[in-house]
Amino acid sequence: MCLVLKDVRFAYLPGTSMAREVLRGVDLEIREGEILCLLGRTGAGKSTLLQVTSGLLAPTAGDVLVDGRRWGASRRIHAELRGSLGVLLQSSASQLFAETVEKDISFGLRGLSLPPRELNARVEEALRLVGLDPRLFARLSPFALSEGEMRRVALAGVLVTRPRFLLLDEPFSGLDGLGREALGEILGSLRGGGTGILMVTHDWEEVETLADRVAVLAEGRIAACAAKDEVLADVEGLLRAGLRPPPLAEFLHELRGRGFALPRVALEPRRAAEAVAACRRASREERR
Ligand SMILES: Nc1ncnc2c1ncn2[C@@H]1O[C@H](COP(=O)(O)OP(=O)(O)OP(=O)(O)O)[C@@H](O)[C@H]1O
Ligand SMILES: [Mg+2]
Repeated sequence: MCLVLKDVRFAYLPGTSMAREVLRGVDLEIREGEILCLLGRTGAGKSTLLQVTSGLLAPTAGDVLVDGRRWGASRRIHAELRGSLGVLLQSSASQLFAETVEKDISFGLRGLSLPPRELNARVEEALRLVGLDPRLFARLSPFALSEGEMRRVALAGVLVTRPRFLLLDEPFSGLDGLGREALGEILGSLRGGGTGILMVTHDWEEVETLADRVAVLAEGRIAACAAKDEVLADVEGLLRAGLRPPPLAEFLHELRGRGFALPRVALEPRRAAEAVAACRRASREERR
């Protein structure tokens, strides 16, 4: 099962003198049980891509398919698909609207006709999942919270429906170290449970610790989409897409340029040190 974008195009204000084509033929597949990180320079169209994928914006051309069914094909399909996807927008505070945190989170469950006790249990579970104590937060106004807390409430509102695909726009921004660690664990365990996650980020650490695959958006198209180690090691490709490569990848790239026969994949510091040491041993032996 997967979420597929086929030759998706999107323009803001089409047909006007202000028209701006942001997506120019995007092909992308998000599989269940994976974290796919989406990278791209500021203004590349990452948030637009996420909103088109989630059905919040309609593509000007091309298709978004969930299990082969097209968004917007009919009202019934639209309603079914909406339940399969959870979206956290970049300005997640704009997703909040209700008088209390619990009302906000339970909004996604309306229509399921759950008995009140189960509804409360689901809301509490979602709050705990994002590290907020339901006894302290459930009855507060979401607008009386800190930025990081608002982000967590918005995420709880997404997770409460247990979607099969999560689309997250910079979910770690505004979180402190512990909050980031906790969210990393949540995402890891959701992936373990089969959720497919598309996550926009600018942070290499998040990519290195969480991503299975990485896609790079540039000039309105997917410039690269492959296993994390492969994309992160392609220093030239990242630079072409306007991205600053991770420092260790840049360093290894420099060493390759100076004749070190290092593998063309991204390496963690320890494996990088071992690979450099192996190159030195090999060249010493050659000299003997
Ligand atoms: N509502 C809009 N109307 C017109 N143009 C827009 C609108 N929203 C975004 N854009 C333009 O579309 C382009 C892509 O915007 P988008 O927000 O998708 O980029 P992004 O890759 O998410 O950037 P960032 O990393 O800064 O979040 C930008 O150049 C932006 O100015
Ligand atoms: Mg954005």
